Amino acid sequence: MAVQISPSILSADFARLAEAAAMVPNADWLHVDVMDNHFVPNLTFGLPVVESLLKATSTPLDCHLMIDDPDRWAPAYAEAGAGSVTIHVEAARAPVRTLRQIRAAGARAGLALNPATAVEPYEDLLGEIDMLLLMTVEPGFGGQRFLDIVLPKIRRARALLDGRGGQVWLQVDGGVSDETIERCAAAGADVFVAGSAVYGAEDPARAIDRLRATAEKV
Ligand code: DX5
Ligand code: ZN
Repeated sequence: MAVQISPSILSADFARLAEAAAMVPNADWLHVDVMDNHFVPNLTFGLPVVESLLKATSTPLDCHLMIDDPDRWAPAYAEAGAGSVTIHVEAARAPVRTLRQIRAAGARAGLALNPATAVEPYEDLLGEIDMLLLMTVEPGFGGQRFLDIVLPKIRRARALLDGRGGQVWLQVDGGVSDETIERCAAAGADVFVAGSAVYGAEDPARAIDRLRATAEKV
């Protein structure tokens, strides 16, 4: 399992997003939290900002859509050139169609589950996705405390994914830090989103190296 780190620009300076991307040349992805103030109680950015970021960085964008009606909006992020587009199962009405549209547009398709959403009802969808995202905080804000109650679900998801050949990546998002990443990796996660742990650090690139080294030791 190759460890990947996806720093979240939610914790960066929104007036300096290109600089935030340039600060982390060792990132595997740039995690872009799209929030609509409906699905979550916070508002960030949308497609125009993603389009500008695509021109400003060569790091692939990992777009996490925390929005209502992802069926309507998600394909455009893939068409714009995002490397990965993740939709929430709690918001999607036609996840199979939307995930297929994301893939057809050339992006990796991701499916996200909130902390209280069980993974088992979505087992039949695993063939439609490239990444499963398990939220380890309630979505909406950076800097929240990691929810340990999600760890058993990470282990169960890892077992389900391994049972199907293990090609689907398992991402965790929320409260991932030097202190919690080990638990996530031990439970079976392989893609780690980190916002405040990276952009709140004095040296964001070094913070990524440290997170990666800790996860790789597991
Ligand atoms: C929260 C977002 C996360 C957020 C994580 O809803 O989906 O990506 O940026 O921030 P930290 O790592 O600070 O918990
Ligand atoms: Zn996110």
